[in-house]
Amino acid sequence: MKKILLTGGAGYIGAHTAVELIQKGFDVVLIDDFSKSDNSLLDGIEKITGKKINFVEGDCKDSTFLDQLFRKEKFDSVIHFAAYKSVNESVREPLMYYNNNLRSMTELLQVMGKYNVNEFIFSSSCTVYGQPDVIPVDETAPFKKAESPYGATKQMCERLLEDVAAANKNLKAISLRYFNPVGAHPSALIGELPIGVPNNLVPYVTQTAIGLREKLVIFGNNYQTPDGSCIRDFIHVVDLAQAHVKSIEKINEMPSNNEAFNLGTGEGVTVLSLVKKFIEVTNVNLNYEIGPRRTGDIEKVYANPTKAKDLLGWQTRLSLEESLRDAWRWEQKLANKPI
Ligand code: UFG
Repeated sequence: MKKILLTGGAGYIGAHTAVELIQKGFDVVLIDDFSKSDNSLLDGIEKITGKKINFVEGDCKDSTFLDQLFRKEKFDSVIHFAAYKSVNESVREPLMYYNNNLRSMTELLQVMGKYNVNEFIFSSSCTVYGQPDVIPVDETAPFKKAESPYGATKQMCERLLEDVAAANKNLKAISLRYFNPVGAHPSALIGELPIGVPNNLVPYVTQTAIGLREKLVIFGNNYQTPDGSCIRDFIHVVDLAQAHVKSIEKINEMPSNNEAFNLGTGEGVTVLSLVKKFIEVTNVNLNYEIGPRRTGDIEKVYANPTKAKDLLGWQTRLSLEESLRDAWRWEQKLANKPI
């Protein structure tokens, strides 16, 4: 079985992926510098899998740390989750985002080259497309000008990977373009831990429902969509995690040594219908109102996930209802309420 390094392994998507890989029998090493996370999800991973995890605290920008780690462990593959991901923060602190997200990428690829580790999976985002001209969007769509420094780092990392893969044919690279990951593990032992006031819709919904926030504001109801609110492709984080397992399994069967995949359900859902679905699924009274549009929001985007189905043999299995139910169970768990 392959030995796989997960950078950002204590984060939301890293932790869910660790569970799926461990349950499939892969040998997994997690690293995290805890700059945007803490160790609370690590316990959850151990509880779900019943295995002691191999975790090392460290920063991917630290070449000495990486060198020591790669000398000790003989990795077959790297899945690179570690990155800053707040759109708002990236607008306020662009240098911090460029420095962190680009340097961790170059340091990792460099140490991989030195130790002849050739399988690399990169956490990308549908943000690389901006507002696409054709929806559902497929992987051939051009990159529009990035909406934020965060988005620009994802575009630049994909470009960087393209160049490195062109120069080194031994490297096998896959970029996974996430749409909107939501939900939590059905065990409610791991889930999303937003820092401060959440920017993202579902954590804001669950925090409002539990009483941490006074009300949810829906940003705009005059878009060109059936109910006027924005359209997104909400994907259960466990489905998303399983796409990483498939990528690890299939990385040597790809048509080229650098491929990108959309990870979404293929279904566009309006913000308002998600909120109504949450109320229906949980039976919770949610205080919400319509407010002005949020600057920088894209009207609608959802995936054409056909390429992932054809080449990775992956598709989503979990519904929006399950995503919302699991997100709610996790929020209740955090509040120590019976679920
Ligand atoms: N929304 C609200 N109220 C809120 C929060 C969000 O109405 O309190 C709406 C937004 O306006 C948007 C939708 O819910 O229409 C989804 O918003 P999110 O912030 O949850 O997600 P985004 O689609 O804006 O952003 C996500 C990721 C980014 C990534 C981007 C790519 O969070 O990391 O997709 O398009 F860059």
